[in-house]
Amino acid sequence: MTAVDASGYELDAVRREVLMRFVRDRYIPMRFLYAGPAVDRHLEFAESYSEDYQDGRSEQELSTLLEVLGHDGVPQQLCDIGPSNGVHSAQFVTGLSCLGLSCRRYLGLDFSSRMLDAARIRLAPDLPEDSRFAQWDFEAAPTGAISSWRRPDGAVMLCLLGGTLGNTEDPARTLRHLRASCSPGDALVLGVFAPPPPGEDVVGPYATAVMRDTMTIPLRAAGLLDQQLELRVELIDNAVIGTARIRSDLSLGSDSDTGAVHFAAGDEIRCFLSRRFTPLDVQGLLRAAGWRPLGKSAKRAGSYIVQLAQRI
Ligand SMILES: C[S@@+](CC[C@H](N)C(=O)[O-])C[C@H]1O[C@@H](n2cnc3c(N)ncnc32)[C@H](O)[C@@H]1O
Repeated sequence: MTAVDASGYELDAVRREVLMRFVRDRYIPMRFLYAGPAVDRHLEFAESYSEDYQDGRSEQELSTLLEVLGHDGVPQQLCDIGPSNGVHSAQFVTGLSCLGLSCRRYLGLDFSSRMLDAARIRLAPDLPEDSRFAQWDFEAAPTGAISSWRRPDGAVMLCLLGGTLGNTEDPARTLRHLRASCSPGDALVLGVFAPPPPGEDVVGPYATAVMRDTMTIPLRAAGLLDQQLELRVELIDNAVIGTARIRSDLSLGSDSDTGAVHFAAGDEIRCFLSRRFTPLDVQGLLRAAGWRPLGKSAKRAGSYIVQLAQRI
């Protein structure tokens, strides 16, 4: 079984991939913050912090969609990339129907099979009968899941929302994979977070106990104990970065494939990444990846930017 087929750390392939990342690259890809034991945390968030999801993002996404594509130009086949616990997706889909825009067909794509199961359950009352969910690691390669699902009689609207692009190692590569997975004329709704205005404390909200605990879930899942690491969160080049520093020499794991992984005191592992983009950054990335930006980036209250694009 490959790491991408699995999303639980209890599965050896995933745990091995996390461990090998420690050694080789010293970073944990953000997809591991949405897999295995981290899924339980995102499900808890949905229950305990439901008011945090009423953040105006879906209203901004929907109004930009209407402004740029017009009521008749919004594709009725929706491909939702990274639905997570489904809370935001439910707002988006119900918002579409409140505007009289029907979502006739829905495809949810995510790396994590457990997230997909959770999204399927949460979204069930709001989705059309013609709905499907499939696994995809959009950082690894394009997928055939969109072309095998779509009907040829209309365009697809791909949604990559909630700052997900900013969590990727190589945003341009991710946008190229999206492009290669869909067809000319398809639309992309992209939602990213903007750099903080001068003087704004962007790191503070990430320095809470809950956020710190969430960022270190993959490290604990691979065998590190909280007391063995120090976490710092900082803004570097318009990216919020979480780094775990190993306090003292230690060894992890001893399974036959990886052998033991050794750390020296002071070794560092990047365990969180949230890149911020200006409207110019977003448009440049889209063009370079074969998308035509449509309309202006819509930045309203807060720091969220919504940009539409069309697949060339
Ligand atoms: C920040 S959440 C976005 C949730 C929601 N769409 C929103 O707007 O609030 C990121 C989502 O992308 C998924 N994800 C992260 N990296 C991924 C990857 N490489 N391939 C596929 N899905 C990934 C996560 O599992 C999670 O569901």
